[in-house]
Amino acid sequence: MEHEHTDPVRARRRRVLITGAGGQLGRALQVAFADDDVVALGRADWDVAFPPSNSLLQGELDLVLHAAAWTDVDGAETDPQGAAAVNVGGTANAVSLGAPTVLFSTDYVFDGRKGAPYVESDGPSPLSAYGRTKLHAEAAAGSDAWIVRTSWLFGPTGHNFLRTMLRLGEERDEVAVVDDQRGCPTYVGHLAAAVRELVDADRPRGIWHLAADGDCTWADFAEAIFEDAALECSVRRITTEELGRPALRPAHAILRSERDGAPVLPHWRDGLRACLAELGR
Ligand SMILES: NC(=O)c1ccc[n+]([C@@H]2O[C@H](COP(=O)([O-])OP(=O)(O)OC[C@H]3O[C@@H](n4cnc5c(N)ncnc54)[C@H](OP(=O)(O)O)[C@@H]3O)[C@@H](O)[C@H]2O)c1
Repeated sequence: MEHEHTDPVRARRRRVLITGAGGQLGRALQVAFADDDVVALGRADWDVAFPPSNSLLQGELDLVLHAAAWTDVDGAETDPQGAAAVNVGGTANAVSLGAPTVLFSTDYVFDGRKGAPYVESDGPSPLSAYGRTKLHAEAAAGSDAWIVRTSWLFGPTGHNFLRTMLRLGEERDEVAVVDDQRGCPTYVGHLAAAVRELVDADRPRGIWHLAADGDCTWADFAEAIFEDAALECSVRRITTEELGRPALRPAHAILRSERDGAPVLPHWRDGLRACLAELGR
């Protein structure tokens, strides 16, 4: 009887490095890419403002999901160089690993004055230091990267609007929330699944807009959170000017894709329900 032959070139699992693995998106990416051989690095493992260590450079990598970033939008106004070191320098360092890379960018590269949804071919014009660093990061990623612009991320961990509202909604009867900024609140679980779809289908590199379907203001989002989490808290609608934050933000930044084969994300309200379910609420 003949012996069965095993293929000498056994396909190995895809080796995926995730930066910013402790952040809200980094965690969701670890779930979405769980079938792969994932190397998840938090800031303590690799401060991306510094070049990668030799051991990182020696390991064979098939994909880099670069989710590490300076995300303190107001803090970037007082320390734009610090923000640039992480966002621009960090992206150049991630790309230097030599593997296909996904860079995460933002609706804050736009000024919000278009009066209609933004598609990939629209010209950027950031209003804030953070937005400028992310635009420079896109340039640092180069034309061989997937540049995924997304917006208003929320998830079950980390610092985000949903978690802040859940806390305030338990403590107060009323919260004042901005009602003159409109965007697409995007659940990190839905974004991570869409990124996996983009990469698995080997869609062309370049800019992709991936944000939740639908749009709303922060005040609308807060009301939906209180409704779905059954919290007795009302929303007082205020203006951006009343809130008085240091960084300017686009008033109307809805991201949509004009590209063939763009993954379609669920509605933000479905993202909200999925996230609350994950939190056991
Ligand atoms: N959050 C949003 O609404 C939003 C919207 C559009 C695009 N994005 C983009 O999406 C990506 C993920 O954002 P996110 O919401 O997941 O942010 P996040 O929760 O703040 O996560 C970012 C992670 O990066 C880490 N980090 C910061 N500086 C670092 C450094 N020098 N070296 C290594 N790691 C560092 C942070 O660590 P520490 O916690 O220790 O600081 C954190 O774990 C970012 O590129 C962001 O610009 C975010």
